Amino acid sequence: MYKAVVITVSDRCTSGQRPDAGGPLVADLLNTAGYEVVRSLIVPDEQPQIEAALRLMADQVHADLIVTTGGTGFAPRDVTPEATLSVCQKLCPGIPEAMRYASMQVTKRAMLSRAQAGIRGKSLIINLPGSPKAAQENLETVLPTLEHGLKMLSGVSADCATLTD
Ligand code: MTE
Repeated sequence: MYKAVVITVSDRCTSGQRPDAGGPLVADLLNTAGYEVVRSLIVPDEQPQIEAALRLMADQVHADLIVTTGGTGFAPRDVTPEATLSVCQKLCPGIPEAMRYASMQVTKRAMLSRAQAGIRGKSLIINLPGSPKAAQENLETVLPTLEHGLKMLSGVSADCATLTD
């Protein structure tokens, strides 16, 4: 069972102005898909704090999958993609490409998400938009394919063809 962490990036959820609906929804989707959600955190839209949370979850908690929700848009304080890029050693552009492609069938506003995905150590980090509906639509697009990538990332096999799924 892969270990997952959910990070809600939101000033308003951090200050208690708004309940966190997206984080628990993402955690439920991951649980249902067979992941063990070991931590759920809320951090403000502050790049150093987002980076610190990502580093901690990758380097100390050793999460296989770290999913963020929020802070991917064009608002001045939206910095989740920048925090993600600065902590990742490798990028996985196909994941946000697939999410935006699928989401464009739902709303043209999908092109406004600047979500990124990348690898730090043995952790895969994926950004999702902040609205619960958008987070769910984006996650459901990539979820069925992630396990194959996580198997390769964990070192089970370097040869994709030898993996059963
Ligand atoms: N993707 C899907 N599937 N459904 C949506 O409703 N909303 C978009 C986009 N991606 C949306 C979506 C909108 S309106 C924005 S502004 C961006 O995600 C960024 O959202 P964020 O700033 O909450 O991260």
